[in-house]
Amino acid sequence: MTRLALRRPDDWHVHLRDGAMMAGVLPDSRHFRRILVMPNLVPPVVTGAEAAAYRARILAAMPPGQDTEPHMTLYLTEATDPADVVAAAASGLVTAVKLYPAGATTNSASGVRDIDRVMPVLEAMVEADIPLCVHGEVTDPAVDIFDREAVFLDRVLDPLRRRLPGLRVVLEHITTAEGVAYLRGAEGMAGTLTVQHLMLSRNDLLAGGIRPHYYCLPVLKRASHRAALRAAAVSGDPRFFLGTDSAPHPTAAKESACGCAGCYTAPVALACLAHVFEEEGALDRLEGFTSLFGAAFYRLPPNEARITLEKGAPWTPPRRRATGAGPVTLFDPGIALEWRVVE
Ligand code: NCD
Ligand code: ZN
Repeated sequence: MTRLALRRPDDWHVHLRDGAMMAGVLPDSRHFRRILVMPNLVPPVVTGAEAAAYRARILAAMPPGQDTEPHMTLYLTEATDPADVVAAAASGLVTAVKLYPAGATTNSASGVRDIDRVMPVLEAMVEADIPLCVHGEVTDPAVDIFDREAVFLDRVLDPLRRRLPGLRVVLEHITTAEGVAYLRGAEGMAGTLTVQHLMLSRNDLLAGGIRPHYYCLPVLKRASHRAALRAAAVSGDPRFFLGTDSAPHPTAAKESACGCAGCYTAPVALACLAHVFEEEGALDRLEGFTSLFGAAFYRLPPNEARITLEKGAPWTPPRRRATGAGPVTLFDPGIALEWRVVE
């Protein structure tokens, strides 16, 4: 197969940042009709009013002709007001609430330390049918960084779901076989998968030299976990769908003695996914993963418009995206990209 028509994809987890960085990266999401925008700005997007203002800034930065629709998230803090969350969702402004365990990842310092303190918000979300997106890693310094997702399932997620069985939860950027197994048995849950976790293992990050542009959180795991993620992605199980977690940082902040976490995958995400699904002999399952299952979880209709992917001579994406906040290095999957979106 050398041509593939898909319904317009959606990206259910993306970091746009703000200001000059946002203006530089937003065009790279143009093939996606809907994007779920993460709220981990500094300061974070906590209230409905802050989400409305951020959404307005996104729309103002959108290039003419780009019809990507931003769906907003609120950053859950221990001071979040349940009534504000419910009102923001009821007005259609906010699609989900994001739980960052405090200290788990980039700009998560205002996140949740004690889940008991956010129970009133979570209870209101059950009542109002608002999904919770979860960064699923414990922050206990005693837990090895490669184990933090699996331990989170046992210590935090499973107890939470027993307390609030009606809460609809998205386990974001799943990186482990344990995460996949947990989801397969869970009603009312979904999980997003990223491009880098489907393509790479921790060897790519660490063997033969440290590659800062492959460093993200949750950190890449061993190849057997990647195999489990790939199997989930191509399985046709609607619980698994695309959230790129495309996370731009200035190149200098990644190529550093203490580099930031995040892979800037938006510009190459669809080309990479076609490659992965073709390798798995599952190109016919790509549309469900990119364009149908996420919308269904968020109770939205599938997009009507189509995009076309074409397979041809290998092409080389630019290495860097210039932005007003400095250059950002694109994710390089380390393979020849043969698929591309033809506009
Ligand atoms: C994200 C970022 O840079 O904001 N980084 C990452 O490594 N994924 C935060 C996140 O989603 O964890
Ligand atoms: Zn993210």
